[in-house]
Amino acid sequence: MGRRKIFAGNWKMYKTYSEAVELVNGLKSGLKKTDGREYVLFPPSPYLKEISSLCSASPFVTGAQNMYYENQGAFTGEISPLMVKDCGASFILIGHSERRHVFHETDEDVNKKVKAALVHGIQPMLCVGELLEEREKGETVSVLKKQIHGAFSGIEKADAAKISIAYEPVWAIGTGKVATPEIAEDAHISIRKIMGELYGEEIGSGVPILYGGSVKPDNIAGLYKMNNIDGFLVGGASLEIKAFLEIINV
Ligand code: PGA
Repeated sequence: MGRRKIFAGNWKMYKTYSEAVELVNGLKSGLKKTDGREYVLFPPSPYLKEISSLCSASPFVTGAQNMYYENQGAFTGEISPLMVKDCGASFILIGHSERRHVFHETDEDVNKKVKAALVHGIQPMLCVGELLEEREKGETVSVLKKQIHGAFSGIEKADAAKISIAYEPVWAIGTGKVATPEIAEDAHISIRKIMGELYGEEIGSGVPILYGGSVKPDNIAGLYKMNNIDGFLVGGASLEIKAFLEIINV
């Protein structure tokens, strides 16, 4: 059986509610290919429930961009896995570079969030990726290893099989500097190897790995041709109907 193909749009902190509705309606009417691919939208949390309803009976599903790992409590400003589920989301983005670098999330936080998501039957989409200086120092593989080992600590094989990974080199996010297909492919192969060492060959070769970082309609084709790239996590270009349709209809 082939690996899952997942196309995802991370809206970050963009779009008013009415703009979000317009975007979803445009995507629903323009989506062409539905053959076994999965399409995930990550709207801002205040609209998660409405966007989930709007996506029901369509090939799109939703996810939250972030959550805390406790079920409830005095954690002002946070949302819980129970709330994410209640809003109809089936995915959760965990460890996005903006969470790691702007909000100082650690590998330990990431691990707790992955575990909380699994407990509640929400599919984690784990983001990993190196900084430019780490790449320049030749540390890409060790950074990926550290992030993956941290995120998967204490997680059993059966649960590991439910997780998708997005390789998002930090230097490519929102910069217009996309990784070449070869650079992305190499990193994806390293991620498979790391997962294989942790969980065996079946998980290593079967884990869906998305590429993210300045994915645009004009660079998607080259990336999608690579054997180890199973989908995309798109930021900026997922905010425009035409651009995101060109990407997901590739
Ligand atoms: P970008 O963002 O496509 O705007 O580079 C990707 C991401 O942050 O997931």
